[in-house]
Amino acid sequence: MAKKKLIRFTENSSFPHLFQPRYSELQPEFRLKGRWGVDFFRNDRPITLELGCGKGEYTVGMAREYPERNFIGIDIKGARLWRGCKTAEEENLRNVAFIRSRADHIEHLFQSGEVEEIWITFPDPQPGKERKRLTAPIFLHRYQRILKPSGIIHLKTDDNGLFNYTREIMKEAQVKILLATEDLYREYKDEPVARIQTHYEAIWREEGKKITYLKFRFNIQNEEFKDQSIKT
Ligand SMILES: C[S@@+](CC[C@H](N)C(=O)[O-])C[C@H]1O[C@@H](n2cnc3c(N)ncnc32)[C@H](O)[C@@H]1O
Repeated sequence: MAKKKLIRFTENSSFPHLFQPRYSELQPEFRLKGRWGVDFFRNDRPITLELGCGKGEYTVGMAREYPERNFIGIDIKGARLWRGCKTAEEENLRNVAFIRSRADHIEHLFQSGEVEEIWITFPDPQPGKERKRLTAPIFLHRYQRILKPSGIIHLKTDDNGLFNYTREIMKEAQVKILLATEDLYREYKDEPVARIQTHYEAIWREEGKKITYLKFRFNIQNEEFKDQSIKT
């Protein structure tokens, strides 16, 4: 293993805001499931997740901008997570945590209704591997189970295939699309959703690619919807 990576992995194990549960620690559920507010953040503020957060720019950026909320970035790559952990430490951000885990284990990490929003930022499009796409029905069902009834999901991607696939899935799923754009920076460039950019987002924009954005929630029965999400 490269020396730099090894140093980062060693430092990762010292971060109090990075959780790296082994598979056995997720069975039947992680010790903080249902207790993130009480035992880690020490408050009952809303929790937003970022799935496939990479270096955590979005999680950290949102945490800076919304100190009254809690943010948790999830990714499988420890060397990338190190960057987000380090920045959060340097800036003394107390409303940030990271988890090194597959998003597939999300129900072992969070209790029903524990999460208010989910951001999926530039996920791997997984061509030909539908079940691995973070917007595949199997994942949407998981999200629905951990989200509050009015919880919001956001997808930002440069990949038209994934954007169109997700829109098709929406037609089948019981969801309400709140916003959809094929060119976020043309239509919403002055909105908060365009203010914070991920590592890949900056690269794709530099290359002149259009960024698409979808915001949706699951249908709520017999309940009037009140949008409490971060304003786009
Ligand atoms: C293209 S990168 C995007 C990273 C970051 N969101 C950005 O925009 O810069 C996709 C990320 O998703 C992570 N990833 C892929 N499949 C995942 C899964 N099932 N669970 C968690 N993370 C995953 C990868 O490790 C990678 O860091």
